Amino acid sequence: MEPAPDRVDQVWRDLALAGEAAGARSIADLFRLEPDRLSQFTLEGAGIYLDLSKHPWSRSDHGLAIDLARAAGVEAARTRLFAGEAINTSEHRPALHMALRAPGDQAFHALGEPVSGEIQATRRRMGDLATAIRSGAHGGGNGQAYEAIVHIGIGGSDLGPRLVWEALRPLSPQIDLRFVANIDPSELSMALDGLNPARTLVVIVSKSFTTQETLINATAARSWLRAALGAGGDQQMIAVSAAPDLARAFGVPEDQVFGFRDWVGGRYSLWSAVGLSCAIALGPRVFEALLEGAAAMDAHFQSASLEANLPVQLALAHVFNRNALNRPVRAVVPYAQRLRLFPAFLQQLEMESNGKRVDKLGRPVRHLTAASVFGDAGTNGQHAFFQALHQGTDVVPVDILAVAEPMAAGEAAHTGLLANAVAQAEALMVGRSADRVRADLEQQGLSAAEVEALVPQRTFPGNRPSSFLILDCLSPERLGALIALYEHKVFVEGVLWGINSFDQWGVELGKRLASVVLPELEGAAAGDHDPSTADLIRRLKR
Ligand code: F6P
Repeated sequence: MEPAPDRVDQVWRDLALAGEAAGARSIADLFRLEPDRLSQFTLEGAGIYLDLSKHPWSRSDHGLAIDLARAAGVEAARTRLFAGEAINTSEHRPALHMALRAPGDQAFHALGEPVSGEIQATRRRMGDLATAIRSGAHGGGNGQAYEAIVHIGIGGSDLGPRLVWEALRPLSPQIDLRFVANIDPSELSMALDGLNPARTLVVIVSKSFTTQETLINATAARSWLRAALGAGGDQQMIAVSAAPDLARAFGVPEDQVFGFRDWVGGRYSLWSAVGLSCAIALGPRVFEALLEGAAAMDAHFQSASLEANLPVQLALAHVFNRNALNRPVRAVVPYAQRLRLFPAFLQQLEMESNGKRVDKLGRPVRHLTAASVFGDAGTNGQHAFFQALHQGTDVVPVDILAVAEPMAAGEAAHTGLLANAVAQAEALMVGRSADRVRADLEQQGLSAAEVEALVPQRTFPGNRPSSFLILDCLSPERLGALIALYEHKVFVEGVLWGINSFDQWGVELGKRLASVVLPELEGAAAGDHDPSTADLIRRLKR
């Protein structure tokens, strides 16, 4: 169904009214008022269980949200996404990250051009190289097998592979994988520390192959290889880019350059050769399983009704909080130390995709867009920012993720981890009333004066919403499905807000000004800056 503008406006208005009522209601009471609430607000797909019942939306609010998705044309937009139409309107490109992970028998087209053949060829090439490196058939300059990879990239050329490695890496990897993103030379020096250049592979990942941080780090890494191995050091470089000519000009051997197309967004690119270092260090079968998991979520997203669709429902829960309840921040807390990088990955995925202030036609947006996302692994976050989540002045919705099966030896500790995840979601919602706190304190024998002084400090307002996601295990398949879930959640939000989720013009100005400031820090004549900037340049001049 194509968007129906008048209907969309009406539903947005109705949703705003619903939000006013929802903000004042007790979430816990909704379970009493709606006996079948759990069945209404829980769903499962591609191996992920999603509980959205601890949000302040009633059954009718939920119906409104689904109406919004229908009226906004989510289904038609989804069709255009998978059909490879130019939905990235400012760059006139498709957004076809799903094609990268599709089964071999699924044909994708980009602007009408068949692309699945080249994708499958790249996947085979990746698998062959990974197998050859892991077997030692393809080794360093003096024939020694590689024992380490240094992956150099930033943003989408870093965050996804870094997350995948941390989530799936074996305890004693055959090949160690280290990441360098920051222009701060300390990250490269820490990554190279203790490595044998003759047994180290440098993988340079950059869609544009013009990103300053990556080029500076790659140049330093190339010098490190050449210092130890001479010109032959270049043979130990691999490049992944949508600009392969620039990679070859940098000195990467022709047959070690992997390309990908410009219709793969950086923050959506881990499924391409951008994930090559993971395919090598984890093994090609693990990487293929990651792709299969994401493809399973793609199939779910394409086929499930709006009511039973995990990306759609998660988007609606987030939009209800963001827009109907005006909540500008969201926390993400994976109760899995191996997923501690997931919040950082989502910061780019969500805030670089949907941190927009104009719609696809250049008009100021009519609804608030991307929430600010932050988080850390649970239980660590409980000892950092959960005080604010429970008793702060702002209501911050939380995505809590749990993995049913232990991710390491230690059944009792893992059960404790799960208990904390479940209990935090419960505590956020039910809180602790002043009466209950008073009774607790009186039972402890405190004086009346002490009790009254402490009651306000120890009362929990509750009514703090959370989405609860369960992965049965942290397998490559489930990780792929989880990441794809949020990719499509972001897409649905973009459709609801009428924005382009696939460009990122907002990152350009800072880069441009940095190129002006840099020479001034190196001694060039001062440029035309505001007093503060001019003072900072003076103070930091080298
Ligand atoms: O942050 C801006 C950005 O362009 C991201 O979109 C991208 O993932 C990152 O920089 C790195 O870009 P590249 O892969 O071209 O080096």
